[in-house]
Amino acid sequence: MRRLALLCCLASAAAAETVYLNDLDLAPMRQGWGTPQLNRSIREQPLSLGGKVFDKGVGSHARSELWLQLDGQTERFQAVIGIDDNANGAGSVVYQVWADGKRIYDSGVIKTGEPAKEMDVDLRGARQVLMLINDAGDGINFDHGDYCDARFTYTGAPPKPIVGPDEEPVILTPKPGPAPRLNNVKRYGCRPGHPFLYRIPCQGDRPLRFSADGLPAGIQLDPGTGILSGTVPAKGEYRVVLHAENAAGKAERPFTIVAGDTLAPTPPMGWNDWYAHYDNVTDALMRQAADLMLSNGMADVGYAYVDIDDCWMTAEHHRDPQRQGPTRAADGTLLPNQHFPDMKALADYVHGRGLKAGLYTSPGPTTCAGFAGAWQHEAQDARTFADWGFDLLKYDWCSYGGVAGGNDLAAMQKPYRLMGELLKQQARDIQLNLCQYGMGNVWEWGAEVGGQSWRTAGDLGGELSRLFEVALHNCEHRAWNGPGAWNDPDYILVGNTGPAANPRPFGLTPNESYSFMSLWCLMASPLFYSGDMGSLDAFTLNVLCNPEVIELDQDPLGQCAAPAVLNAETFLLVKDLEDGSKAVGLFNRGEFPAEVTAPWAAIGVQGRRMVRDLWRGRELGVMEGSYTARVARHGVVLVKVAEAGP
Ligand code: GAL
Repeated sequence: MRRLALLCCLASAAAAETVYLNDLDLAPMRQGWGTPQLNRSIREQPLSLGGKVFDKGVGSHARSELWLQLDGQTERFQAVIGIDDNANGAGSVVYQVWADGKRIYDSGVIKTGEPAKEMDVDLRGARQVLMLINDAGDGINFDHGDYCDARFTYTGAPPKPIVGPDEEPVILTPKPGPAPRLNNVKRYGCRPGHPFLYRIPCQGDRPLRFSADGLPAGIQLDPGTGILSGTVPAKGEYRVVLHAENAAGKAERPFTIVAGDTLAPTPPMGWNDWYAHYDNVTDALMRQAADLMLSNGMADVGYAYVDIDDCWMTAEHHRDPQRQGPTRAADGTLLPNQHFPDMKALADYVHGRGLKAGLYTSPGPTTCAGFAGAWQHEAQDARTFADWGFDLLKYDWCSYGGVAGGNDLAAMQKPYRLMGELLKQQARDIQLNLCQYGMGNVWEWGAEVGGQSWRTAGDLGGELSRLFEVALHNCEHRAWNGPGAWNDPDYILVGNTGPAANPRPFGLTPNESYSFMSLWCLMASPLFYSGDMGSLDAFTLNVLCNPEVIELDQDPLGQCAAPAVLNAETFLLVKDLEDGSKAVGLFNRGEFPAEVTAPWAAIGVQGRRMVRDLWRGRELGVMEGSYTARVARHGVVLVKVAEAGP
């Protein structure tokens, strides 16, 4: 008793403190446009409401979401709210606060030009809180919602911004069984007469023994490693059947080699170092990634390219002297920096594992990070990349704008047309990835200038809070997506970003990670992981390596899903598959769990259908008319809807 009484006295003695919203670390705060502005409006002007200017506060924009961990230690939130006087257009918003799933504050609709409103919310007892500035039903244009003079009263620990409510990182992907499971692409493209290399992706206990029926003359299979190599002598479609066997069982799967002009009949898969290593990338880190791709199971589900991004050449100025030096040799050959002592040896190392090697440059004089580009050395560089043995080139616009000599479509296409042509002349298959952020509707002409894939937008790294919007935007270009021609919405950013010496989470919740991978696979996007390979955890690997989910991406039809039943918070993505079934993603971009229904009419099927949960690898049963799932905040349920059988 005495002890309790003493604690009581101590607690009441602790003085309540005040912290301003603008003094919290708002990195997890998300909003529909721009980034939260401290002590100024979203237009980067002084915060101003109803003619009054405020020194302190946060300028935001609908839809604005801030999750806070309070743990019952925050008592009150006070602010002056409204649409900033400098919005310069008619907007309308609603402010809401939700505490542990219950709405405890609603401002009602606030329109541009209305007097500022005092917001005063009792937060006593709340553990996790969501502060929202919602669009009030007329779209988010000019919804420049401010929190002025915004402050919390707390005792103990101050409120802590978090990415979302607690979520368990539940592993859904079933563990691979001991028996072989072949995960090879059904169609593989190559040019006749060029070096051929394909490591058959296969899960199951090792040792495995591979064999194949119907291989074209000139292609050998290593039965122990499952690496196919050699040269396809002539154009044509070669219908091969692959077999894998081990002590626990056997598997077979068709594999059609299409020797002709189409590279990448299914979206390329691999890893690119950019978001892991930036300008710290080295030969050793690339080799390590190739080794990890084999040892962590990624190669067994289809990841194959090991791509060096920017910063492998020399730069005029760089903090690391080993990245400085002459750009080119006396004969003009492009020189790698000292962290890449032997590019050919590196490509050989990757090939030795049955994997493929990619690299990066810019058509401009310098790359985006200031390293030497291909400007005026295009033919020589294309030859060099082929001589070294690279299999993919990412060609990043960067400084090219300064030398383009125009900004019409022809000028925009010119460097890509040139490199596309040069790569075709090489004696090996080199895929071309256009990186120019979607300029000039690149999806309409990327294939025609020789590309196999093209970025449809800017860098995804800064856009992760708008993942669903980025994906829906990419879907707008779905008509141009198909075998040999892939819209590229950028890399898969789950797990940790670099630098590898200090890996930090990208910041997606577990459900957002599942949504990310589901979106990319439904869109038939190139699947390039770009997080840190060295710190991949079991959860992230489960997101990256579900063979049934990847199979959607690699479906030979190559169709990008179409949005359907699109509401403010939920939507479907529907994709036709080669076998006549449909893949459907039921997405919830709202802040709370929601029921999402996929009516048969909306997905284009009728009658009784078998529904299979692809993440869990489980039949859900035969359904009629529709399928409804409860979908987590920012999450997905991904299903295949197929014939129910007799
Ligand atoms: C950007 C590109 C990124 C990365 C970076 C390297 O332009 O979009 O993906 O390659 O350059 O500097």
